[in-house]
Amino acid sequence: MNTCEIRKRYLNYFTNLRGHKKISPASLVLENDSTTLFTSSGMQPLVPYLLGSPHPDGKRLTNSQPCIRTQDINEVGDNRHLTFFEMLGNWSLGDYFKSQQLPFIFEFLVNQEYGLGLDPRRLYVSVFEGNEEVEKDYASIGIWKEIFNSYDIPAEESLTLDIGSANRNARIFAYPASKNWWSRSGPPEQMPIGEIGGPDSEIFYDFGAEFKLHENSKFKDKPCHINCDCGRFIEIGNSVFIQYKKNEVGGLSELPQKNVDFGGGLERLSMVVNNQQDVFMLDLMQRFVRPIEAKYNVTYLSSPKVDTSIRIVADHLRASAMIISSGVTPSNKEAGYVLRRLIRRAVFHASLLHGGHVERGILPDIANLELDDYPIQLKPWNEIKEVLENEVGKFEKTLATGLVKLRKRIYNKQIIDGKFAFDLYQSDGFPFELTEEIAKSESGVIAKDALLVFQKEFKKHREISRTSVAGMFKGGLADQEERTIRLHTVAHLLQSSLRHVLGKHVSQKGQHITGERLRFDFSHQSKLTEDQLKEVEDMINEAINQDLVVTKQEMPKHEAIKQGALGFFLERYPEIVSVYTIGGDANTSANLSAFNSDGWFSKEICNGPHVARTSEIGHVRIKKQEKIGDGVIRLYVTL
Ligand code: ALA
Repeated sequence: MNTCEIRKRYLNYFTNLRGHKKISPASLVLENDSTTLFTSSGMQPLVPYLLGSPHPDGKRLTNSQPCIRTQDINEVGDNRHLTFFEMLGNWSLGDYFKSQQLPFIFEFLVNQEYGLGLDPRRLYVSVFEGNEEVEKDYASIGIWKEIFNSYDIPAEESLTLDIGSANRNARIFAYPASKNWWSRSGPPEQMPIGEIGGPDSEIFYDFGAEFKLHENSKFKDKPCHINCDCGRFIEIGNSVFIQYKKNEVGGLSELPQKNVDFGGGLERLSMVVNNQQDVFMLDLMQRFVRPIEAKYNVTYLSSPKVDTSIRIVADHLRASAMIISSGVTPSNKEAGYVLRRLIRRAVFHASLLHGGHVERGILPDIANLELDDYPIQLKPWNEIKEVLENEVGKFEKTLATGLVKLRKRIYNKQIIDGKFAFDLYQSDGFPFELTEEIAKSESGVIAKDALLVFQKEFKKHREISRTSVAGMFKGGLADQEERTIRLHTVAHLLQSSLRHVLGKHVSQKGQHITGERLRFDFSHQSKLTEDQLKEVEDMINEAINQDLVVTKQEMPKHEAIKQGALGFFLERYPEIVSVYTIGGDANTSANLSAFNSDGWFSKEICNGPHVARTSEIGHVRIKKQEKIGDGVIRLYVTL
């Protein structure tokens, strides 16, 4: 069964048989969020609804969410870690809970006709063992016993985690919060105030006790348990029972509703369906591995060193293709820096496979990416390639000189400290992580505080360049800033107008403002018609002509939500928020059809700044639209 079929079966199962609505995934790159650069789990865009706001599509939702996990970048190179992956998700927003979720997902995994047909005897589960505040998950333990029993499999909670000494009927293993509690920030003690989360129950697939550990595996003589990294077991799904919120006094409060947040890695499901322990042997990764083998005349699974490099090149090219398709180009900050790191690390490993040479055209061509049916609108390969090659061009000359400097230092047994790493970054474009990786693999010594010192130098340098630029271009910058503020208010007018013209399902997915234009992403299935575009543009200009007053008020977040204020990242806002309202003052004339019954045109939680009156904006034009993903439309608006 290939990966597309697995994705299709999952979405069909939850929509057709279990009454879920398929929702569009969020965009991969989050531009308005300073805490996370990429979407890394399916629940991220759903936090306001998990907190209790009604979702327009109901209480049962499902999708496949493209994700990037950057904390795993350095783990890529083994047989299971990927930077980019898809997370199959299903959610209950205060609807069903444990007693339905666990049978649902188990049935999907084992059913032969419409599910994945896995052998239920190969499945093991974990539950939360409890802590001072939240009791052990007895409910899930009871439900799991019943489920296994219904397949004639005896199931008991194990008294030990060690699979070697566990009872033969042991199926259910209780772990502490470090393993069986999920929130975006980890276990309860790491959750910031307002963060939501709860105990979870994971499902593991057993590749088999006969699974032979690699001769020099570090796990060879260690006891194995279902969460072990030796390779015998793999986690394939996680049902999180999002039921708690961190409160002001550091404890956990019950949310008004009990939610389910399930996530299962599509690629991992594909591994177990095909009984394949190596994700790079799957169809969708072979699409990358084969051209790499051909280009450098190497064979996958011929030697550990070659394998590592092939995996890194394959994984990083795939992740880069997704990030580039989301509109990011390599740079020295945020998502652009992650992309730069991925490309440069891929180039370095390509050079290892290529006899140490770097040149333009070093990266292989990948054909027919779209056949894997990603929920991301991919750019054509030649456009992706252009971005990649541009970056190769920038790195090509300096990689060789940088390597000479670095290797000389390693050879002379000089310590690699943060200052040296920063110089190598400045003069030769080596991302810190690459320097660290090369030093480690070639037995160099890295200073303990290397990263810290590197970051300090980085900041110091940035400040110098920022102030000098600001000094030189003061007038220009002030002008830019003013245009940015005007476009910021346009974004609010645009969101309101889109919701009036297209419907309330429209919600903002991303936004990026330069002095020149506003780029605005929002959820909607298809491109707008000419008429709709005109209607939206007219409505914004009408709101501008009305010279509406823009007011700012501080209020508790729940009050803002009650008043109907829209929020882009509701869950991340503090308890007291700023709300910008456009229109709604006594002088507003009522002939703008889009005013709501409270008399305002737009209300959003936002930190501003904004213009004081809409007439300051001038005329706006919608310049261009694009469909950038399944159900995400992008508009470009200029002044
Ligand atoms: N949000 C859960 C996870 O990422 C399902 O594992």
